[in-house]
Amino acid sequence: NAKVGVLISGTGTNMAALLYAAKAADCPYELVLVASNNPEAPGLALAAAEGIATWAQSHKGMSRAAFDALVDERLRAAGADYVALAGYMRILSDDFVAGWTDRMLNIHPSLLPLYKGLDTHQRAIDAGDRFGGCSVHVVTPALDDGPVLAQTPVAIVPGDTAETLAERVRFAEHQLYPAALAAFVTRERAPDWLLGRVRALAMALPEAD
Ligand code: GAR
Repeated sequence: NAKVGVLISGTGTNMAALLYAAKAADCPYELVLVASNNPEAPGLALAAAEGIATWAQSHKGMSRAAFDALVDERLRAAGADYVALAGYMRILSDDFVAGWTDRMLNIHPSLLPLYKGLDTHQRAIDAGDRFGGCSVHVVTPALDDGPVLAQTPVAIVPGDTAETLAERVRFAEHQLYPAALAAFVTRERAPDWLLGRVRALAMALPEAD
C-alpha cells in the first residue's frame, strides 16, 4: 500500500473521505499521518480516534521555510510516500514542494484553471457560471496550477449562495479525491473500477449555453 500523509487546516471532511475509502480491502493507499498547522483543527480528533497518527503545531511565529521543514520532517518520519493536501490553507514554500515533486496532490473547490485561490464559489456565482465543481491536481510551485488529474462539475442552482454551493461541492469532493488519489498512487495498477471512474470524471468543462 502507498503511504499517504494528509495535511489539513480545518474540518477535515476530505481527510475523512480519504480515510474511510482506505478502509476498503482493495484500496491501494493508507494514511500514515494527519498533520495540521492548526492544533484546533477538528479533523485531528477524528483521525486520532480512527487510529491514525496525528501531529499539529501552529505556524505562528515561525518562518514559512522553518515551519514547512518541520512538516516535511514529520511526513518523512511517518514513512509517507505521498502527500494529500485536504483543505490545507497555507501557501507552501518552494523547497517543500520540490521535495514532493509528483508525490503531492491537492483538492481545490473549482473547475481549474478557473478560480485559483480563495472565494471560488462566490466568484463562480458572480460570473453567472452554470457549474462550479472541484479539481484534484498535482502540486507544483505555482498556486493551484499543477496538472489536473480529475474534476467533477457541480451544477449551480437558482438561489445558490457560496455556502450552499460549497456544501454540494463538498459531496463531489468526497467522491473524487479518494478515487483520484488511488489512481494516482497505483498508476496503471489501479483497479479497473477506480481508473474507469477517474477517466469518466476527468471530463472537459461543461459547455456554456
Ligand atoms: C474543501 O472544499 C477544499 O476543496 C478547500 O477547502 C475545503 C476543506 O474542507 N480547499 C481549498 O480551498 C484549498 N485552497 P474540509 O476541511 O472539510 O476537507
